Amino acid sequence: MAFVELRGIKKYFGTVKAVDGVDVEIKDGEFLVLLGPSGSGKTTLMRLCAGLEKPTAGELVIDGEVVNDVPPRERGIAMVFQSYALYPHKTVFKNIAFPLTVEGMDRSEIREKVEWAAGLLGIGRLLERMPSQISGGEKQRVAIARALVRKPKVLLMDEPLSNLDAKVRHTARVELKKFQQEIGVTTIYVTHDQAEAMGLGDRIAVMSEGRVRQIGIPEDIYHDPADTFVAGFIGNPPMNFVEQNGVIVGFRPEVFLPAELASTEDQTKFRFKVVRVENLGSFKLAYGTIGETGVIANLQLRVPLEEGREYDFSIRSKDVRYYHRETGVRINK
Ligand SMILES: Nc1ncnc2c1ncn2[C@@H]1O[C@H](COP(=O)(O)OP(=O)(O)OP(=O)(O)O)[C@@H](O)[C@H]1O
Ligand SMILES: [Mg+2]
Repeated sequence: MAFVELRGIKKYFGTVKAVDGVDVEIKDGEFLVLLGPSGSGKTTLMRLCAGLEKPTAGELVIDGEVVNDVPPRERGIAMVFQSYALYPHKTVFKNIAFPLTVEGMDRSEIREKVEWAAGLLGIGRLLERMPSQISGGEKQRVAIARALVRKPKVLLMDEPLSNLDAKVRHTARVELKKFQQEIGVTTIYVTHDQAEAMGLGDRIAVMSEGRVRQIGIPEDIYHDPADTFVAGFIGNPPMNFVEQNGVIVGFRPEVFLPAELASTEDQTKFRFKVVRVENLGSFKLAYGTIGETGVIANLQLRVPLEEGREYDFSIRSKDVRYYHRETGVRINK
């Protein structure tokens, strides 16, 4: 376990500002998810932590010690890549053992550690197989076991589940969270899958263009996005935005309800013209407009809505968020 601090970290590749001033503290044993669109600097930030890249500016601090000049192998950090990068001609055992073999550790100690890591991930029975003889989900566990075998203080994972199909991916996610809690290793996990981020993260850092736009617990990121970028990136469909009195009004599709279903609480009302209704079983999505602006309602109740008609819809005022029209930053009202 370790306490990790990123202080003013920047990484420029020529004119490309891959990481442009990141300040984050990651608590001992915390599971932090980095979430952001392609090119937002997630992998670069991980590579900086691992010591595979040198920062243009800033400090990386682990347990109070600045490690900028500490070589990767001595940082106590292990990284799992999206591709797993297993050695195809080595058995699962030898793949997991590899970081220890390189260190020249003696064979009985290696066996003990490999068995510990394999046991933790439930792959003890696969040790004598070759990578070509195991499934994608099993490969992913082998890669994690190899990362854990040196008992790192910090575990970095860059989209480790993205090669798996949806069903296996969900199981793998649940297992990943379980073993991370068991061993309590401080973890930084990259994804651009928001369901994964919400399900795994103790906290989520939302990145865009090399910066952290917001960091917080999943609840807060979802319900109280700090700006229109985060609000529009998180949620499927994302938050609706309507301009009103010089301010951007934001509300989630599921808090936008037919007025007759609304409670007696303080309400913000709109005329909603329904253009198309998509029935998705447990809920339906109503696509339409408020004035000229496209918005979406997510309705979990059986509400008859006709395409082409206008309805009175409302939102509890406490579910409405306000954003600055130019900067997109949240305004408290
Ligand atoms: N070695 C490099 N040389 C030049 N530019 C680079 C280099 N590595 C990354 N970049 C650029 O830095 C930016 C951030 O890249 P990075 O790989 O960190 O993004 P990412 O958030 O991991 O994206 P993805 O979700 O697609 O993996 C991109 O614009 C990328 O083109
Ligand atoms: Mg990446």
